[in-house]
Amino acid sequence: MWQNKEYPKDTLFCFKKMNSKKFFITTPIYYINDVPHIGHTCTTVAADIVARLHRQLGEEVFFLTGTDEHGQKVAEAAEKENLSPGEYCDKIAPRFEEAWKNLNISNDFFIRTTDPKHEKVVGEVLQKIYDKGDVHKAKYEGWYCVGCEKFVTESELVDKHCPLHPPEKTVWKSEENWFFKLSKYVPKIIELIENPETNFIFPEGKRGEVLAKLKAGVNDISLSRENVAWGIPLPWDKTQTAYVWFDALINYYSATQFVEGKKEFWPADLHLLGKEILWFHTVIWQAMLLSAEIDLPKKTFTHSFYMIDGQKMSKSLGNVISPQQLVDLFGIDGTRYLIARSFPTDNDSDVGIERFKERYNADLANNLGNLVSRVAKLAEGESFENLDSGIEKDPDYEIFIKLINELKFNEAIEIIFRDSLNAANLDLNKKTPWKLDKEDPERKKILKEIIQYLLVAIKFLKPIMPDTCEKIEEVFKGEIKPLETGLFPRIK
Ligand code: MSP
Repeated sequence: MWQNKEYPKDTLFCFKKMNSKKFFITTPIYYINDVPHIGHTCTTVAADIVARLHRQLGEEVFFLTGTDEHGQKVAEAAEKENLSPGEYCDKIAPRFEEAWKNLNISNDFFIRTTDPKHEKVVGEVLQKIYDKGDVHKAKYEGWYCVGCEKFVTESELVDKHCPLHPPEKTVWKSEENWFFKLSKYVPKIIELIENPETNFIFPEGKRGEVLAKLKAGVNDISLSRENVAWGIPLPWDKTQTAYVWFDALINYYSATQFVEGKKEFWPADLHLLGKEILWFHTVIWQAMLLSAEIDLPKKTFTHSFYMIDGQKMSKSLGNVISPQQLVDLFGIDGTRYLIARSFPTDNDSDVGIERFKERYNADLANNLGNLVSRVAKLAEGESFENLDSGIEKDPDYEIFIKLINELKFNEAIEIIFRDSLNAANLDLNKKTPWKLDKEDPERKKILKEIIQYLLVAIKFLKPIMPDTCEKIEEVFKGEIKPLETGLFPRIK
């Protein structure tokens, strides 16, 4: 197995904490102004696959996700529905929890930034930053994108508005704010990124982008808002609330402080994020932690976007796909597989229901599902001794681990298909065991070999499709049982 020579072994251990006992992984916490769509699903499924793999490796995992509930954007969404922001959040947050449950996401905790326990830690961290002397009052005047909850510079505007959101979301602000001395930490952050021992930005390509921006000069940034009541009041000035990003980023740390038994999980091993929030995670978050003298996370990993038939997903374009739509069509594991297979690792990935159908039918219905049911039927009632996937002993397992840790799910899956499933299919068709007599030892030998191939593939695929893989393992455990229903029925 795993004869692939494209991945030199000496590059495999770039993941510093790969064999550590504890592994803390996070997703961004999602804005609650809208219900979940497959953009959110993509990061959550990715984190789940990585978390499950690390559990498979025997590590103690803390997997955190949640919702970002304060700020102007959420307050406006609540107003539109004639609800108080609190009522609105209580209505929408369960939709995210439910969506993740319906995708068999194994998060250990779901954080909501309106949880008083989180709010308390935010107050403490901000107070530390204040005590350090890194905060001063000044006037902010400029553009603000309510969609991004972000102050935008003139140079970031396209046609006078933030290119990521409708024009009306970009508004002029003029207010007295508390400012954070971001510029003070720039030299330290540059030094950390430039040193391979301490660099925390992955993939490589994103490093240059952040460094260039850092070296071009960085202004101090607003840490509070004057006229946004829906937020956490600053400990030293109750007339202002924490700028929503300062509140939100602290979730990664606060959860470890108030969830029982999780203190020793800080610093985080891996923050997963989409490319639009790279700066917040690699610069602002690091500077906040440096200022508050809290250990820095070990790694951030940034991915690109799902596009729907070439366009950005948006409510106004009416092209939003919900995770439930996919689950209804492809089942839970089918959906998880499709998300992983089309994951936008480096470049944006164009997805759509028709593409998903093609992929599902080709890989899951025609290949994996069909193979399992053919083999199970042929070997029904027989038992095979010493069936062992042997995966842990396989030195190439490391390649798989590396690819998953780098969110290169597509490459990881391609290897499984090429080396295990296609090989099993080929063997089956070439050696035609069904033509041999049931008592013929050659028939048993052929079937055993094919089942071994299959079990290796299943073990690899387990973090991606946990329930299906367990079901398949059950079929081949002891006396082989036929599958009662097809694993992946073909979809028209
Ligand atoms: N609330 C902030 C994050 C705070 S983290 C301290 C936020 N929320 S968000 O709901 O707008 O988006 C969060 C994440 O969703 C993105 O970073 C990205 O991971 C994911 N995606 C949202 N749309 C996406 C696509 N179309 N494609 C892939 N992922 C994208 O930003």
